[in-house]
Amino acid sequence: MTSSPTHWDQSFSGDHTARGWYQPSADPSWRLIGDLSPSVPAIDIGAGASVWVDEALDRGWSDLTVLDWSPVALEISRTRLGPRAGSVSWVQADLLSWTPPRAFDLWHDRAVLHFLREDDDRLRYGSVLRAATRRGSVVVIGSFGPTGPEMCAGLPVRRQSVADFEGLFGKDFTIERTFEEAHVRPDGDTQDYLWVRAVRV
Ligand SMILES: C[S@@+](CC[C@H](N)C(=O)[O-])C[C@H]1O[C@@H](n2cnc3c(N)ncnc32)[C@H](O)[C@@H]1O
Repeated sequence: MTSSPTHWDQSFSGDHTARGWYQPSADPSWRLIGDLSPSVPAIDIGAGASVWVDEALDRGWSDLTVLDWSPVALEISRTRLGPRAGSVSWVQADLLSWTPPRAFDLWHDRAVLHFLREDDDRLRYGSVLRAATRRGSVVVIGSFGPTGPEMCAGLPVRRQSVADFEGLFGKDFTIERTFEEAHVRPDGDTQDYLWVRAVRV
């Protein structure tokens, strides 16, 4: 089984709110985004059908881009948002080959980075991250931590430690905060996430 748009389209078909990564609200993300101004451009990378974008609109964020390579996932969010979807930029693309058209002051990724198991893919993620941000940009990433699961959505994952994040960021970003979250899955099991907030130097 490999990660592909088709694989994820299938994962989001049926009741996507029963999937392990589903969360009814994106509270851990907001804990790290904090009081960043909602007027700055923000992107949700590998957004899936997450309600993060709904909550961002509720909080007054006005320059939002949502990227995922699964058209099924993007359509769930667009349908859920209704007319509000018109104020969001939707990008269907493989994040690893995507060329950011401009810089974003917030890069948000929940439950995406850990699917990149190969060093080359992580390097490409780092390149896109750098191309999509500028000095002062805030990066918020939530990923399976060292005690997190080894599989998700039928795919093997690469769990992240703080040292892994330091390797990804190099000297270009400073880690400001980290915390561990026990995400409660819809079936009641828990999954350990490691959350990181970093700032572009
Ligand atoms: C576990 S889901 C998480 C979705 C969402 N971030 C959330 O927290 O609910 C992983 C998402 O990453 C997306 N994804 C994985 N690899 C990708 C890639 N190379 N380019 C774009 N999206 C990707 C999948 O389509 C899927 O929507």
